[in-house]
Amino acid sequence: MARIFYDEDAVLSILDGSTVGIIGYGNQGRAWAMNLRDSGVQVIVGNVRDSYWDRAVADGFHVYGISEAVERSDIVCILIPDEVQKTVYRSQVEPYMKSNGMIVFAHGFSIRYGLINPRRDVDVALLAPRMIGVGVRKLYESGYGAPAFVAVKQDATGVAWPKILALAKALGFTRAGVIESSFEEETELDLFTEQAVMPIIISTFLKAYEILVSRGYSVEAVLTELIASGELIEVFRQVCKLGLMSQLILHSKTSQYGQLSRIGRYIDRIHEPMVRSLEEIASGVFSEEWVREQELGYLNFRRLLEEALSLQIEKDSEDLRRRLRIPYDML
Ligand code: NAI
Repeated sequence: MARIFYDEDAVLSILDGSTVGIIGYGNQGRAWAMNLRDSGVQVIVGNVRDSYWDRAVADGFHVYGISEAVERSDIVCILIPDEVQKTVYRSQVEPYMKSNGMIVFAHGFSIRYGLINPRRDVDVALLAPRMIGVGVRKLYESGYGAPAFVAVKQDATGVAWPKILALAKALGFTRAGVIESSFEEETELDLFTEQAVMPIIISTFLKAYEILVSRGYSVEAVLTELIASGELIEVFRQVCKLGLMSQLILHSKTSQYGQLSRIGRYIDRIHEPMVRSLEEIASGVFSEEWVREQELGYLNFRRLLEEALSLQIEKDSEDLRRRLRIPYDML
């Protein structure tokens, strides 16, 4: 059974006298910097000169170029996009890391696939929130926290665990629970959700829209039924709160029977493509494809994104959103 760490398992004072360098002030970086500062941790930001730099300055942080921030930090949190980590790490992080310092990743990709091989004299840890950055901040401000995965890959100092747990506490993560994992497990689960679970959900909606509209159901009714009403947000909220099956109790008996009696028609058909995606992830086939894609200037990615955004369902959804008066921000 995986261990779960809570507030009482971490001692904040282990960070006394340490400076935490937040490298990258984007989705996660901003939330991390603010939560750490509010927890009394000494934080600086390392960034390139862009609008994120300006935002960090406006938020009251001391901001430095990346290599200078690394030089000034005892704990270095890598919060720049995974695609640029290898290059930035080589030129601006590794040469400037303090011996016996700690490097922290919010996602395991670069380490899992060997794009970054940290020096032997630093601690290497993972603290991967299961929440987008704005959620990490919002939960912290409300007195709660986001759950996260934690792992130590390299314990050069012998105190990597208490240090990373203290950081998790300062970020609010141990309020919810921090699950012991590994760089491998975190990365593979994350990619699997993206490459197997989400494509099935998205293709379900695309196929449903195609079948229903082609059979004469109105676009307005189909889209409201499937997506636009926001009903699914509530259903998924209840899935989190009550459980995948236990939330069925909130639906009519007709709905419960319809769902339960038809699941079997679909479930075995998704087994093979799901396993195939997992094997591509575990074997490194996907990561090699993605790195090649980056080297080719995102040629396929750009085409796929363009095609996706120009689908009829996107145009129809936008039209419908304008015609319905649904307070999406309140859902
Ligand atoms: P982001 O896309 O918001 O990063 C923006 C930051 O990266 C800015 O500070 C920008 O100046 C800097 N940056 C961009 N290109 C750069 C370059 N070439 N050189 C130097 N700096 C550059 O990043 P995000 O989404 O916060 O992700 C950071 C890490 O957190 C990643 O490892 C990601 O997998 C992980 N993560 C992200 C989550 C999210 O909610 N977005 C959730 C959990 C983990």
